[in-house]
Formats: sequence, C-alpha cells, structure tokens
Amino acid sequence: MRGKFITFEGGEGTGKSTQVELLARTLVKKGWDVVVTKEPGGTEVGKEIRRLLVCGDKDKMDATAEALLYYADRHIHMVQKILPALENGKIVISDRFADSTKAYQCYGYGERVSKEVVDELYRIAVGDFKPDLTIVLDIDPEKGLRRSFAKADNMAEKELRFESRALEFHTNLREGFKIIAEEEPERCVVLDADKSIDELHQSVMNVVEQRLGLFTEKCDSNHIEEIG
Ligand SMILES: Nc1ncnc2c1ncn2[C@@H]1O[C@H](COP(=O)(O)OP(=O)(O)O)[C@@H](O)[C@H]1O
Ligand SMILES: [Mg+2]
Repeated sequence: MRGKFITFEGGEGTGKSTQVELLARTLVKKGWDVVVTKEPGGTEVGKEIRRLLVCGDKDKMDATAEALLYYADRHIHMVQKILPALENGKIVISDRFADSTKAYQCYGYGERVSKEVVDELYRIAVGDFKPDLTIVLDIDPEKGLRRSFAKADNMAEKELRFESRALEFHTNLREGFKIIAEEEPERCVVLDADKSIDELHQSVMNVVEQRLGLFTEKCDSNHIEEIG
C-alpha cells in the first residue's frame, strides 16, 4: 500500500518542528513506518542548496533565483526521498513544502514572484504530486516570533526581529498561508496554534485521523528515520 505524505506549514514559531516530531512519535507507536524530513535541505544535495538559501547574503540573489533554488531542492527531495518512501508504504512528514515557497515568495513582501511563475515551477518540478494532507499552523506573528526568540538573550537581536517591517512581513506571510489553504480545502487544514503543545498535538491527531484514518489502521513495523 502506498504511504501518505503529510506536510506542516506556517510562519516562524508556530510550532511546526515540535508538532512534526510529536506526530511522528505517535504514528510510530501506532505501528507505522515514519520518515521525518524538511525543506529546504531534506537530501544531501538539498543541504548544499539550503546553505545557499539560508547562509548567503540575501541581497546577492533575487526572488526568482531563490524560487528556482527552492524548487531544485524540492524536486530532488521528492524524487530521491519522498516518493521512494511512499512507495514503501511509509508515512512521510515534511517540515515545510511547496506552500512555504508560495507564502514567502508571493505574499511575504507583496507580489515579489508572481503566483503564475510559482505555479509553473511547481508543475515543472513536482508535476501532479501533492501532499495527502497539509496542516497549516496559524498564530499571531508577534506570539510566534516571541516563541522563536524566547531563548535568545541578545536584546539587540530581539529588537531587530520585532521591528515593524519584519512584523508586517510575518503578517503578510500568515495571510498568504490562509489564502493558500482556502484555495485547496480538500488538502489543507488550518489549525489555531495558540494553545499548549499537547492541545495542539491533540488537534493534529484529530485532523490526521479525520482526513487519513491513520490511527484506526495499523501496520506491523515500528521504525522512524530522521535526517540529520
Ligand atoms: N504550543 C506551544 N506553546 C508554547 N511554546 C511552543 C509551542 N510549540 C512550540 N513551542 C516552542 O516555541 C519554539 C518554536 O517552536 P518550533 O516548533 O521550533 O516552531 P517552528 O518550527 O514553527 O518555527 C520552541 O522553543 C518550542 O519549544
Ligand atoms: Mg522549525
């Protein structure tokens, strides 16, 4: 039986990484084989691409070049890792996928790359493939950013991150994710992430059960693979 592909989307500090981990553990306890992965950087080549995207000088690359790199990463990720795992009946959970590119590149600073271009890149790099379920975690960006930087003790950095332009960017991003989810209600579910980690995990499990029925079905193996 083909496995299922679940993606988590949303802004900074919405709890994606936390909930990916919790869902993976719960599914493993139920007997599923689970692969936890992320974008960008879910493969060896992808890690190199990730380095270009997250460590490079932001001004050296325009939004189109960035979008092309994200889609190169995504294509390799899908071909080398996601599809083979699904063919082996595994549940693949990815921390971000294509919706993040659209939200950041098309909505983050307004229309930086047109939606038509991003949709075309999707068609070329991903084709007809799409997640079986996408969970969009939604929270007031100020709260999300506060969570993200709660551990940072460098006040100057904190102030920088909370400057109004940064906040406007994160507010646009949040709206972008909501619009994307509304456009594909059969794939996407938006969850209110302004609740405790355990409560949110419960909401995630409810959605996974309602949409995919993974908690009533079981298989025999008990294995989790994670990427470094
Ligand atoms: N529901 C929650 N309530 C409070 N803090 C949370 C919650 N979910 C995650 N956190 C904490 O907030 C920070 C960011 O969470 P994380 O899962 O890394 O978010 P993301 O991957 O979406 O950026 C982490 O320190 C995490 O422990
Ligand atoms: Mg994260």
